[in-house]
Amino acid sequence: MERERWASQWGAILAVAGSAVGLGNFLRFPGYAAANGGGAFMIPYLLALLLVGLPLVWMEWTLGRFGGALGHGTGPGILEAVAKRPGARYIGVIGVFGPFAILVYYTVIEAWTLGYTVFSLTGHVTAAGTGTEAAAFLGAFSGEAPRPDLVNPNWVHAFVAATVLLNLLVIYRGIRGGIEKMCKLAMPLLFLLAIGLLVRTATLGHPFSEDRGFLEGLAFLWTPDMAKLTQPVVWLKASGQIFFTLSIGIGVILTYASYLRKKDDIAFSGLAAAGTNEFAEVILAGMTVIPIAFMYYGAEETARIAANVSGGSTLGFGFVSLPIVFHGLPLGSVISAAWFLLLFIAAITSSVSLAQPCVAFLEDEFGLSRRRATLALGGALVALLVPFSLLWAKGWLEEFDLWTGNVMLILFGLVESIFFGWVLGIDRAWAELHEGARMRVPRIFRFVCKWITPAILIAILAAFAATEWKGVIMLEGKSAEELTIRWIARGLLFATFAAFVGLAWFGARRRARQAGE
Ligand code: PHE
Repeated sequence: MERERWASQWGAILAVAGSAVGLGNFLRFPGYAAANGGGAFMIPYLLALLLVGLPLVWMEWTLGRFGGALGHGTGPGILEAVAKRPGARYIGVIGVFGPFAILVYYTVIEAWTLGYTVFSLTGHVTAAGTGTEAAAFLGAFSGEAPRPDLVNPNWVHAFVAATVLLNLLVIYRGIRGGIEKMCKLAMPLLFLLAIGLLVRTATLGHPFSEDRGFLEGLAFLWTPDMAKLTQPVVWLKASGQIFFTLSIGIGVILTYASYLRKKDDIAFSGLAAAGTNEFAEVILAGMTVIPIAFMYYGAEETARIAANVSGGSTLGFGFVSLPIVFHGLPLGSVISAAWFLLLFIAAITSSVSLAQPCVAFLEDEFGLSRRRATLALGGALVALLVPFSLLWAKGWLEEFDLWTGNVMLILFGLVESIFFGWVLGIDRAWAELHEGARMRVPRIFRFVCKWITPAILIAILAAFAATEWKGVIMLEGKSAEELTIRWIARGLLFATFAAFVGLAWFGARRRARQAGE
């Protein structure tokens, strides 16, 4: 069967940019930056972008196109082809399991953004004028603290179902007819909305207090608190954010790049997609979310909210704090609807990229039709979403995000950098990266890819294990109830991972049998 291809180079770039620009840009980044020293956060952030982010972007595009030419679009097949050893496929399983596991919780939040868009227009979201009321609305919405008088839970289930169906529909339509087409429509709309919100923020004047306007808000965000740089956790957060926001280290770009042609450029495409993401993150999100919160809450309270946000889930800021600000603005419900629609568009172009590796895996390794592969993915997703959406409040989300949205990204990024620089070999890898390229990557990156990137990733993993062992990994100090839920979530993650390993084994047997016939 002929492998699918992107219709155009720009389509591929837009699709990867669509994957990268997501909830991470608009919810996670502003909170992390405000909580971790403002301008000081940008120092580790930019370093991580240069030394880990961009190198991994190029590595993934290269390995993905390389695998695609051999008929492999996901981690297991690609790593096996690079290493020419069957065992390598089992390391590659992270590149299918990881996106799937992120997809599970990403879909839930995506559904909330859809629901909040609708309920903004009806006036429900901005009806709350205080933190307690807005939090009660989120609690009712998420099912954490049901309040049928505020939100009928069936609505929420309906939004989740609609989100799942929409994603499956796009995937079912294929690379060109689904993902690429959607991104060509969605990305311009996303930028329009984001620029509109930025302009509105910048022209608000001083709506709540004489000394708190847009410029003061920017100054608050960008004034570096250098003392923060001595804390290892700030460096961890900055590198974790780079991985998450660029969609690297999890296998998503591997899959997208496998639909390129041999002569398609990857050096420039990778840079263009990453650049688009950074513009959306640092300029559009950074200059909107924090200044608007600052105008209402002031410096101390904003930092406190942000610290809560980045300490636990990343949701409070966007779902609770901002709606309260919108409540106090003229046409607040319209601004609120624009904000949540922006989030939804950003999210759906990311979630389809999380879904595609699974579908590609079933197609490539088992010869399933796209229709069957999409149905299988839908079934697996629903099977996990049901317990997840019933229980998330007590730490599911954090548990999934910790392992898949943080640890696995860095671990798999390390694996990829070793396969690029050492297993494929830096000479071949470098030549492969420049095949069909419109630009040359500065030579210094050869050295960075081979030595610096893997070394930094090893250091980050070691620092994570050393500093977070008790609290984050062993969950010391959590209540008995949360402990139970967290360990159930862990068990489920592990079982899902084992199931994917089993699938990879079956896939290998099937291929071997076919080769023998
Ligand atoms: N980059 C996306 C965001 O910023 C999330 C994502 C992570 C998508 C990993 C794909 C892979 O929200």
